[in-house]
Amino acid sequence: KLMKVFVTRRIPQEGMKILSAAGVCEVSLWDSDEPLPRSELLKGVQGVHGLLCMLSDKIDAEVLDAAGPNLKVISTLSVGFDHLAVDEIKQRGIRVGYTPNVLTDATAELTVALLLATARRLPEGVEEVKNGGWSSWKPLWLCGYGLSGSTVGIIGLGRIGLAIAKRLMPFGVKRLLYSGRTAKSQANEVNGEFVPMDTLVSMSDFIVVSCSLTPETQGLCDKTFFSKMKNTAVFVNSSRGAVVNQEDLYEALSSGQIAAAGLDVTTPEPLPANHPLLTLKNCVVLPHIGSATYSTRGTMSALAAQNLLAGVQGTAMPSELTL
Ligand code: GLV
Ligand code: GLV
Repeated sequence: KLMKVFVTRRIPQEGMKILSAAGVCEVSLWDSDEPLPRSELLKGVQGVHGLLCMLSDKIDAEVLDAAGPNLKVISTLSVGFDHLAVDEIKQRGIRVGYTPNVLTDATAELTVALLLATARRLPEGVEEVKNGGWSSWKPLWLCGYGLSGSTVGIIGLGRIGLAIAKRLMPFGVKRLLYSGRTAKSQANEVNGEFVPMDTLVSMSDFIVVSCSLTPETQGLCDKTFFSKMKNTAVFVNSSRGAVVNQEDLYEALSSGQIAAAGLDVTTPEPLPANHPLLTLKNCVVLPHIGSATYSTRGTMSALAAQNLLAGVQGTAMPSELTL
């Protein structure tokens, strides 16, 4: 008898091919690029053995109840899992698959691109070229900040944080600081110095947030945090929006407390087009595209499909989330 699985969005064909080739499941797909309404999620999961979801789908007790007792596996097309009520899920004996490692390089590249674009004011420059604001070469115009000789602070030196550090060091970074729960042995690959958060915040010319969203990191970057940063420092976040208190960030950016911010993640997503942060020239906001290369999304899709298949069949998953 075929296992029922529900896929909550169109995903790259790599994953769909794996699901159909396996011949063990009957796939129903929310066949759209747009998120499905909550009511459709609650309907779609009814009686399924497996669920393949996105980071924009909140999987909580209500969804698990709607799915019922058949549900064996939740496979998310993401490395982050803050959208999953993991305790509820584990309590019910449901396994979780996710996509670490395969998106590390793409996310690190995007983070470096965002850091440089923010520090060197690329979006502002592009805008001036288009709107006629480029009147001549000007010694004082569109100056920003460079990495050479700088101190970089990375909050969360995990897989992605380390990959970011490795890419930044060749720009001539002088000191690489990091903070988090514990010192990491892999930090020696980038001469990273484990320091208290306060030290990192006050000494860094660039602060990169690369930690996961947990109760401890929620709202970590707040008024107090920004008040300790240098006025010339650039703040970059490619983890989760909720690590940042956005009202406090707006205040810090508009008052000149900090130089600039680059965000690939916000709360909510999408950020409404009239949001105050979008009125600021020194804030560069991207639409959560850290892992968005063709190749990486294809690989994520394949991995999420393999995790799902292993989950419904009760075999070893390529990437199981164990907590
Ligand atoms: C993206 O943010 C992910 O968690 O994969
Ligand atoms: C995510 O993959 C991380 O550990 O940084």
